[in-house]
Amino acid sequence: MAKEIKTIGVLTSGGDAPGMNAAIRAVVRKALARGVAVKGIKKGYQGLLNEEIIDLERSSVSDIIQRGGTILGTARCMEFKTAEGQEKGAEICRKHGIEGLVVIGGDGSYRGAQALSRKGINTIGIPGTIDLDITCTDYTIGFDTAVNTAMQAIDKVRDTSSSHERCSIIEVMGRNAGYIALWCGVANGAEDILLPEKYDFNEQRIINSIINNRKKGKTHHIIINAEGIGHSTSMARRIEAATGIETRATILGYMQRGGSPTCKDRFYASIMGSYAADILCEGKTNRVVGYQHGEFMDFDIEEALAMEKSIPEYQYEVSRSLSSM
Ligand code: ADP
Ligand code: F6P
Repeated sequence: MAKEIKTIGVLTSGGDAPGMNAAIRAVVRKALARGVAVKGIKKGYQGLLNEEIIDLERSSVSDIIQRGGTILGTARCMEFKTAEGQEKGAEICRKHGIEGLVVIGGDGSYRGAQALSRKGINTIGIPGTIDLDITCTDYTIGFDTAVNTAMQAIDKVRDTSSSHERCSIIEVMGRNAGYIALWCGVANGAEDILLPEKYDFNEQRIINSIINNRKKGKTHHIIINAEGIGHSTSMARRIEAATGIETRATILGYMQRGGSPTCKDRFYASIMGSYAADILCEGKTNRVVGYQHGEFMDFDIEEALAMEKSIPEYQYEVSRSLSSM
């Protein structure tokens, strides 16, 4: 039988994502309801190494479910990628009585959790990233808010773009993944959607499509470009020179990561946070929570990291057929 867990910790790591607070709240309240104490570790693995550790009570997580960002703060920590950093982290957990840890972040953060698990600290990962780039889950906390924020911003750019009969390249986040670009591209009815997983760097095809659309009377041409392709400003210059049509680049940037989480992000974060607290309190380790085909489940971190994710072919085909006139 697994030994009884008395104290767990929770941290957020990597890029923040709307809904992380809802997940922290769920972890804290579910664990407390099971009679397990919770410590909050500030600023991700960096805060762990600096021993920035606080006690979390039920009231510590009041009034946060609707707030963007993370009340614990987050960081990227190079030292934690080293064997010495990981040993020090495990030692600090033991010193503070932290027997299990919930890590809310992306797959980089899971590697840190895996390292701690190997050193005897039970760990459970929760997918928290706007990028939707975690293979074992159809859903990551923050994605829904981010795409809604981006979609609304793109609608606004489209208004002014049409008024001025301009072409607009709008760059969205996603690191090396094209999910935000795909979803916004479809939801905003963009004329071109450039995904790192698919883009063939054939700019001439885009130029031809802009010229053809203009001949057919379209007053705007929206290109959604993913961060993983980048170079939107220079692309705009080249397109303007080749088409003679005024072309502007807008890089949406960090606004996509902030703001009050949507209902979906709050709901999924609440379920995933509770689920993580439950399995951690039951003595599981080296697992990551996921959502697939309508069910919440957990996977071995090693297996989760080895899975490959790609843009669903049918969704990609739809994005192309709906954008071409
Ligand atoms: P995300 O978790 O969103 O993918 P990162 O890739 O930046 O973001 O990872 C967040 C943090 O997780 C890193 O700053 C580092 O502290 C830790 N981390 C990343 N990769 C590893 C690794 N291979 N081993 C241990 N810790 C890691
Ligand atoms: O992973 C979330 C994300 O916002 C990515 O979309 C982006 O590439 C990255 O984080 C930016 O990270 P930073 O905050 O370190 O600039």
